[in-house]
Amino acid sequence: MNKKCVLLASCAAALLWASTVIADSVAPGDVMIENLSVAQSLVGQPGDPVEGRKTFANRKLGNCLACHANADLDDQLFHGEVGPSLNGAGSRWTEAQLRAIVVNAKAVFTDLTVMPAFYSLEVGENVREELVGKTILTAQQVEDVVAYLTTLK
Ligand code: HEC
Repeated sequence: MNKKCVLLASCAAALLWASTVIADSVAPGDVMIENLSVAQSLVGQPGDPVEGRKTFANRKLGNCLACHANADLDDQLFHGEVGPSLNGAGSRWTEAQLRAIVVNAKAVFTDLTVMPAFYSLEVGENVREELVGKTILTAQQVEDVVAYLTTLK
């Protein structure tokens, strides 16, 4: 038995700690955008496209339809036209590129894009106090949306 694990309780605590760290997601400030891509999942595993579809359509979360048409969501009203249609987005972009676009579109297009940075703390000045330090989507929601986008062929 490992000498450091004198008490069973401390072994259990150490294991619990280790598993929490593994399950942890990449913090917004630590996401590396290289070659207009984010290669690794933010949560260490693939997202869920079914959840991603809901987050995409949810007006309080992704609200992607406010700016993008998407034939897969024809049952929803009012698709915006500020951004390009996302029909076929999963064929035009790799998963890593889609992840970079959702994380921080400003790093992929230009600072002037109106598309919000969904997983960045650099969202401009005069942010409402209760929103400081928060991202629009969680790391899991980003991965779910990315998984959904890859299905739009
Ligand atoms: C306020 C408007 C707005 C919102 C909201 C928005 N986008 Fe965008 N998006 C844009 C614009 C504009 C572009 C085009 C890039 C540019 O030139 O600015 C774009 C580009 C994209 C592209 C690349 C499109 C292509 O195929 O060329 C993807 C993918 C994308 N957005 C996904 C999303 C997703 C997913 C969401 C929701 C989580 C979202 N967008 C929310 C405005 C928006």
